[in-house]
Amino acid sequence: MNLPKRVKMVEVGPRDGLQNEAAIVPAEVKIEFINRLSASGLSVIESTSFVSPKWVPQMADNSQVMAGITRRPGVSYPVLVPGMQGFESAVAAGAQEISVFGAASEAFSRRNINCSIAESLERFAPVIEAARQRGIKVRGYVSCVLGCPYQGEVPLEAVADISQRLFEMGCYEISLGDTIGIGTPGQAQAMVKAVAERVPLDRLAAHFHDTYGQALANILAVLELGVSVVDSSVAGLGGCPYAKGAAGNVASEDLLWMLNGLGIETGVDLTLLRGAGTYICNYLGRPSGSRVALALGRE
Ligand code: HMG
Ligand code: MG
Repeated sequence: MNLPKRVKMVEVGPRDGLQNEAAIVPAEVKIEFINRLSASGLSVIESTSFVSPKWVPQMADNSQVMAGITRRPGVSYPVLVPGMQGFESAVAAGAQEISVFGAASEAFSRRNINCSIAESLERFAPVIEAARQRGIKVRGYVSCVLGCPYQGEVPLEAVADISQRLFEMGCYEISLGDTIGIGTPGQAQAMVKAVAERVPLDRLAAHFHDTYGQALANILAVLELGVSVVDSSVAGLGGCPYAKGAAGNVASEDLLWMLNGLGIETGVDLTLLRGAGTYICNYLGRPSGSRVALALGRE
């Protein structure tokens, strides 16, 4: 197997994980959760989003969360930003890295951010430029890379097109999202190969939701192609409010177990990571969505 020696784990639990929770989680809990995650050795923790609170009420406390966390040196705390209004608020809250989020499916783009793909790129352009001027790093998400809840199939060409556009606009990393967790390993490899013809492979990240139980298999398939950045959510929290029925991201503990088993370095401590998962599951009052956390809990 041709696998990377090191993988950067991008923890998205506090944002992608919690955004889908119906009951508002207090800011203090989110802050403690993020602090515990950062103690585990993770180098990137996506912490919140600066979106409309009418659209995603759970993230309305974004500034409070950013003000409350203890920022560890060497750890990045990116936040989602859909346009200039969110950008200004994120900067005021001290964000040093942001993510813009587009889609490879027109139908999903409209449901998620209320505009077409072309309009979304027009909104991102001034955000990316303003970020560049301030030395703020910008990551780009592409949703629905292996299927769309509204339109069904998504052509690989569409995924490659928007990935290339975001990269050329200045995103340093493109996170390829199987938003509804429907893809299988052969499809995941074909998709990454198509995108890698336009964007260097070392700038691509895998963002797989686990709805159909394919996330770890898909990740292994794209690691074999050389992808070395993987998004995950502790305890498998989450889903997208604009993709009904989609499950959470691959669980970070499950991802780490697999990477440890393969001898791939991450710098992340499984016991501490699991502790952060236990903390948030105790608060939410339900069992972990991580198979590894459940198995270790039975030992
Ligand atoms: P809109 O309604 O078309 O835009 O929303 P608008 O500009 O007309 O704004 C409407 C109201 O929202 C206005 O307030 C704005 O001020 C306010 P009003 O005048 O009605 O009182 N507003 C804001 N308030 C605070 N912060 C802001 C902000 N922007 C506008 N940043 C908009 C357009 C993009 C804002 C909206 O559609 C939105 O917020 N969408 C976000 C949806 C979202 O967060 N989805 C989940 C994240 S994406 C995801 O999970 C996928 C990912 O994980 C990858 C994958 O898995 O595929 C990343
Ligand atoms: Mg997601």
